[in-house]
Amino acid sequence: MEKINDFLKYVPIFTELDQNTLDEIAKIGIRKTFKKDSIILFEHETGSALFIIAQGKVKISRVSDDGKEVILSILSDSDFFGEMSILDGQNRSANVTAIEDTDMFLIQRPDFINLLLTKPEVSIALLQELTTRLRSADMKIKSLSLKDAEGKVATVLLQLADDLGRIKQGKVEIEKLPYQHDLANMAGTSRETISRTLHNFAKRGLVELEGAKIRILNYEKFKEMFS
Ligand code: CMP
Repeated sequence: MEKINDFLKYVPIFTELDQNTLDEIAKIGIRKTFKKDSIILFEHETGSALFIIAQGKVKISRVSDDGKEVILSILSDSDFFGEMSILDGQNRSANVTAIEDTDMFLIQRPDFINLLLTKPEVSIALLQELTTRLRSADMKIKSLSLKDAEGKVATVLLQLADDLGRIKQGKVEIEKLPYQHDLANMAGTSRETISRTLHNFAKRGLVELEGAKIRILNYEKFKEMFS
């Protein structure tokens, strides 16, 4: 119980809550672990729970008519998913797959709805996060429809920097970049284009590559160039 409480206070939609309420939430949820590569949610199935990531990473994806996977987002510690179908009553909007061993906290729909009704601070924080996701989706639509390959790769890097990056003295470091075929699925381009563009960015001094790690050297400038 102690460990669950510790984790819950760092979840952005719960940060305004007092310890008593966090203790209540700890009691209504259950912990569940998913092994790397296991599918947590299937698109089109009925939704009954909200998922919060205690530790680990998942990818949110859909499969296009021609069988190509499109990665919408990568979520990590303290992020939530599964809210869409429990809010609007429709089926799951996407597949969710663990890309690392992932430790999850699940809250059933009636308990989550009750929390939203009784704790407006949770509702507001949820709306803020959904707004951020809508902005990110808008940026992606613009990128896919208007930008050249370089712009598409840069947009994905900016999205990952937002989701997973750590800012330090104007630089943003992404510790473990997804595999290049996953990056290609996020950017709507090929693996070869990802590889070529990342090396080109490195040559121009915009990023530093070090194994699976990438550093955007001047984050503000990079954002200005590609937003
Ligand atoms: P739900 O539709 O219940 O199940 C799939 C979940 O994926 C969805 O709720 C959201 O939590 C999440 N999801 C869907 N689209 C996006 C997106 N564009 N960005 C981040 N998360 C998303």
